Amino acid sequence: MHDTVRDWIRDARHIAVLTGAGMSAESGVPTFRDAQTGLWARFDPQDLATEAAYRADPQRVWDWYLYRRGLIGQVQANAGHLALADFSRRHPGRLTLITQNVDGLHQRAGQTGTLALHGNIADDSWLDAPRQCCQPGSIEDGHPPRCPVCGNLRRPAVVWFGEHLPPAALEAAEQAAKRCDLMLVVGTSGEVYPAAGLVFTAHQAGARVVMINPAATPLDGLAELCLRETAAVCLPALLA
Ligand code: APR
Repeated sequence: MHDTVRDWIRDARHIAVLTGAGMSAESGVPTFRDAQTGLWARFDPQDLATEAAYRADPQRVWDWYLYRRGLIGQVQANAGHLALADFSRRHPGRLTLITQNVDGLHQRAGQTGTLALHGNIADDSWLDAPRQCCQPGSIEDGHPPRCPVCGNLRRPAVVWFGEHLPPAALEAAEQAAKRCDLMLVVGTSGEVYPAAGLVFTAHQAGARVVMINPAATPLDGLAELCLRETAAVCLPALLA
């Protein structure tokens, strides 16, 4: 089946790639929904990844993100991230990388133009609209850090459940899904929208869809091929 997909890649004018947590699993970053190892197996996302949860217990949520930042700081991009970045370098403008991941591993692998739909865990922003006193240079350390004048809290610059995605990234992702003739969907359970909706957009626009995931997902019906393989093994075989 690799040869078929390699032919589709060769013939595609524009390729869109949508990645999820499974893309980073072989780097050692836990996914969210995998039964045993997934982060949500031990935590309830509604308890942590929402603004209400943050306001209710800022320290607990902030420390959970510190823990994840620590994990991510110790891992490396894997062969799948590198294969995508290398292909993009060899074929400028032919591949648009859209990710739900906040780990920054595509960027660390050298991927250019990454559309990070859910933000980046390494970045912070202000919880409330910043006032004149909320200056990045005068942030008071803490769990979480805050503005020493008005107490405005810092928060992870990631998209929490119920929050809007960054409009520019989402619009660019929609455009890429509409104009691609091939979409590779890698390592996502396809359970979270609007990211998962991009696969419907590509399919409705006539693109071929290929799933790369050891497990089945609700999006499989849109795929012309489902490769039951892992990202770090399959992507180098398809893109080298
Ligand atoms: N290679 C490819 N796919 C893999 C691998 C691997 N090595 N390991 C696991 N997978 C697959 C799993 O089968 C599963 O379908 O990756 C998927 C991971 O799904 P989730 O944990 O739900 O991650 P994701 O789809 O990215 O979640 C979407 O939900 O929690 C929110 O905002 C968070 O961006 C996240 C969004």
